[in-house]
Order: sequence, then C-alpha cells, then structure tokens
Amino acid sequence: MLTFEDEPQQPQTPPVNAMPRTALHDFELPLSSPAQDGRDHSPGNQANAQDVAGNPNRRISIEDKQIINCSADVNQLVPFKYKWAWDKYLGACANHWMPQEISMSRDIALWKDPNGLTEDERRLVKRNLGFFVTADSLAANNIVLGTYRHITNPECRQYLLRQAFEEAIHTHAYQYIVESLGLDEGEIFNAYHEISSIRDKDEFLIPFIDTLTDPGFRTGTQETDQQLLKSLIVFACIMEGLFFYVGFTQILALGRQNKMTGAAEQYQYILRDESMHCNFGIDVINQIKMENPHLWTKAFRDEISALMQKAVALEYRYAEDTMPRGVLGMNAPMFKEYLRYIANRRCQQIGLDALYPNANNPFPWMSEMIDLKKEKNFFETRVTEYQTGGALSWD
Ligand SMILES: [Fe+2]
Ligand SMILES: [Fe+2]
Repeated sequence: MLTFEDEPQQPQTPPVNAMPRTALHDFELPLSSPAQDGRDHSPGNQANAQDVAGNPNRRISIEDKQIINCSADVNQLVPFKYKWAWDKYLGACANHWMPQEISMSRDIALWKDPNGLTEDERRLVKRNLGFFVTADSLAANNIVLGTYRHITNPECRQYLLRQAFEEAIHTHAYQYIVESLGLDEGEIFNAYHEISSIRDKDEFLIPFIDTLTDPGFRTGTQETDQQLLKSLIVFACIMEGLFFYVGFTQILALGRQNKMTGAAEQYQYILRDESMHCNFGIDVINQIKMENPHLWTKAFRDEISALMQKAVALEYRYAEDTMPRGVLGMNAPMFKEYLRYIANRRCQQIGLDALYPNANNPFPWMSEMIDLKKEKNFFETRVTEYQTGGALSWD
C-alpha cells in the first residue's frame, strides 16, 4: 500500500476542456438559498447540471466526475471514478496512530543527562522541531482552507479529510516531543520567525498556500487552473516531498544510533503518512494533467523546474544550518546529494526531466523507513486497542 510507484488512473472521459467548466464552490452557498437537502445549489452548479444532463436530478455516472472544475454533485461518493484515491483513504485509516502511544521516557532521560547528547545533536533536534512544529499547521491550513475547496471530486476529498486529520496528529506529535523534553516552547514555536533557514523555507511556500486559501480565488480559466496546479505541485512535491526529508533523515539517524528513540518512532510514523500524502498529491497532479493537457505548457514546466531548483537550494541551506560541523556520520554535502536525488524523483513522478543527472541516494536506509508496513508490528509497545476506556455501550 505504501509505494512510490502508484500510477495514476488513465482518464475515462474526454479532456475536461470538452466539458462545462463552471467552478464548483459548494462551501459558499448563497444565504438566500439554503441547501436543505445538502446538495450544491450554487447558481453555476444548477445551470451546469442542466446543461450536462438536461436533468439536474439524474443519477451521477463516472463520466460526470472530474478532479477540478466539475459540476457533478460532490456529495455522492459513489460510483468511484478514482479508485486510487479511495484506496489511499482506506490505507491511511489502516495506518492510524496517536503520539501518546509512544513512550518518550528514554528520550527524556537522555535529554536530561548532560552527557547524553552533544551540543550539535541538541541543536539539530531543536532546529528540526523548530521547522516541523509550524510546518504541519501550514499544511493543514492549506488543505482545509485551500485545496479542499478546489478539488471537486468526493473520493479525493475523502482522502483530503483524512490527510487534514493526520496533519493535526503530526502537529500533536511535535508538540508532545517539545513538552516531553521540556524545551522552551516560545523558542521552538517561533523558530519559523526567528531562524532564517526555517523562515526562508516558509516564505517560499506561503505565496502558494495564499493562492489557494484566498476566498476570492476561483478555478476555471487557464491562468487560475495553472495557479492551482502549481500550488498543488509545490505542496506535494516540494513541501511534503522535499522540505521534510532533511528533518526526517536527521531524527531517524539519531534513532538508528539508539538516541531519541521515542522521537524517532514518532517521526517514522509521520514519514509513513507523509509519503502517502506525497503520493496522493502526485496522483492528483497527474490526473489533472491528463484531464487538462493544455495546462502543461513549456513555460509552465520550466517554471516548475525553476521552483524545484530553488527549493533544493533552500533545503540545503537548512541542512547546513542544522548541522554546521557534521553530526551522526552525516554532513551537509551528503544532503546536497540526497536532495538532488529526491528532486529528480519528484520531477520524474510528475513527468519532468531529472534536474541533476547521476545524483545518488547516500541514505539507502531511508527507503526501508518509508516502506514500513504496519503489519510488521515494528514497535512492540504500540497500543493497538482504541477507545478501550470509553467504548460505546448499548446497555
Ligand atoms: Fe504532516
Ligand atoms: Fe502531509
């Protein structure tokens, strides 16, 4: 289920530009026309449904469904058109976990021990958390206030709802680590303002998030559909698919040396979730490309490649800042190679040429971490029974 090799489903309908292109914004029902039956009654949707079928109440078929700019009723989950999205939703639910299931006692003892960690290792942990404690809030806001509105397909929305909850779990996990170690919360939670290597990454991302969360933003034109696609690529391939990887590698490298094992366990679950987020985003991107080939122009592809190169440079700066002298057998130049390797992979996954020929993976063990399967029962202490203290009773 966790794989980087998922192929997007081939489109089963004509390109969307042959279909009506009214944007569906079901979150903005006019106050004057309450949707008592729960359907989308926005004027555009009503007119469009009649145009498509001649009957606004006719049953939905998969031919009516499109990832963006779709007029079909988003409340009808079935019939499935994008089975990969539903499968990812099921897979994500099967991977459910909660931060407090993982013991932090060994980490706490190590952190309190003056000889437990080197100063460089402590800096690495604090810088690392300094990025992640706010990054997943940005991710959640991007999904809930932005992406969700513009993806007009219910099976994809079902996954996005699950993904949004997972981002909340990740923020919870980082907070739990900060609290467990007794770190200065003000320092860690303000790092995205105060540490330039972190701030620069966020400032790179925020304009793309702002595009989608702008209440006035509407898809349905070449320009706005490209803006949406660009923001989706930045979110899935750069934020989740590149900017997280130095941080994940660092903490998991600590864990491999039997240090900060609780934090490493949390990060391993987060990495598993994020690899699925990234794969889902790539499937959505490729499906939009197939349904809207006119968006994938040479100029657009060049712009994406340039963004990817800029992101590699920013993430490399972050790697240098978090481990200026090298630590745990890792150093910044190794991350330059790793980031180039990942960037190549992301480019190829969305149909762009690799940017850095011959880049290799200096951390092959990371692939094993990503491929963690729940059924391996990797962490024996994990709580597997949920709500045991608060189960519903029908007596
Ligand atoms: Fe996350
Ligand atoms: Fe994510």
